[in-house]
Amino acid sequence: MKGIILAGGTGSRLYPMTLAVNKQLLPIYNKPLIYYPLSLLIDSGLNDILLISTPAALPNFAKLLGDGSHLGIKLSYAAQAHPDGIAQALLIARDFLAGDSACLILGDNIFMALSAVNKVRQASHNLSGALIFACQVQDPARYGVLAFDGAGQVTDIIEKPKLPPSPWAVTGLYCYDASAVERAAQLRPSARGELEITDLNLSYLHSHNLQVHCLPRGSAWLDAGTPGSLLDAADYIRVLETRQGQLYGSPELSAYQQGFIKRTQLLTLGQAQSGTAYGQMLVEIAQERG
Ligand code: DAU
Repeated sequence: MKGIILAGGTGSRLYPMTLAVNKQLLPIYNKPLIYYPLSLLIDSGLNDILLISTPAALPNFAKLLGDGSHLGIKLSYAAQAHPDGIAQALLIARDFLAGDSACLILGDNIFMALSAVNKVRQASHNLSGALIFACQVQDPARYGVLAFDGAGQVTDIIEKPKLPPSPWAVTGLYCYDASAVERAAQLRPSARGELEITDLNLSYLHSHNLQVHCLPRGSAWLDAGTPGSLLDAADYIRVLETRQGQLYGSPELSAYQQGFIKRTQLLTLGQAQSGTAYGQMLVEIAQERG
C-alpha cells in the first residue's frame, strides 16, 4: 500500500491567511498542519508517499519535506492544476500507485485515533475493496454522512445533506484497493463540478465492497478548514502536549518509532531545531530511549 496526501485546494475559507501560503503549511500550535496527516501515514507503516498540491505550493512543500530521506521514507510530489475534486487524487496518482493499493488522507485532517492507525496498518497488508473512517460530529451537514439500516449496516453516503440521516461524518482518511483508479476514472463531476470522493465510496458500497470503521469514543478527528477550527486544533494539541510532555503529529518521531530512522538520526534532526521546544523534545526522546 502506498500513501497519498491531498494538500491542494484554494483554502478560501481561510483568506487572507491563505492568499500567499497554502493552508496545509499553516501552523497547528508548533508544527505545520501537513505534519499531522504525514505522521498518521508513517505511524501506519507506510513509507512510499505522494503529496499532491497546487503547482504554486509544491516548491514550499518540497522545501519543508524534501525527498523524505531524512525520515527514512520516499516522498514524491505531483501537481493538481485545479481543485477538481478529492477523487481526482487517485487519477493523478495512477503512475505512482502502479497497481498498488492506496491510503489517501486529506492534508487538513488531524486524527488522534489509534484504532484508525491500526486499521490502516492491517489494510496495508490485505485489503479487498475500500475501508473508510467515520466519526460522530455535532454538525454532520458539513460533511459526507452515513445512513444506516436498522441492523447498523451502511445503506448510503450523502454529501453535505440538508437533513443528515445520522451524526456519522465520513472523515478524510480512505483506504482503497487497486480498483480505485479505474473506479475514479468512471466518475462524472457533481453539481459543484468536482469528482466527489463520496461517489467513489458509493461505487464500493454498491458493489458490496465497502468497510466502515466508526472511530470509538475518545478518538479525535479535527479539520482545520476555518479560522475557528484552526485555532481549536492548535489549542487541542497545545493542551495535550504541554500537559503530557509528549509530541503529537511529529513525522520525525513517527519515523523513529517505525524504525525508519535510527536514534542517532532522530538526535541530529532534533539538534538541527534545538532552538525550539519541538526540537528539544526530539533530542530528549532520542537521548532517553538511547
Ligand atoms: O473532511 C472530510 C470531508 O472532506 C468529507 O466528509 C466529505 O465527504 C468530502 O467531500 C470533503 O469535504 P469538503 O468537500 O468540504 O472538502 P474540501 O473541499 O474542504 O477539501 C478537503 C481538503 O482537500 C482541503 O484541504 C483541500 C483539499 N482539496 C480539495 C479538493 C476538492 C484538494 O487538494 N483538491 C481538491 O480538488
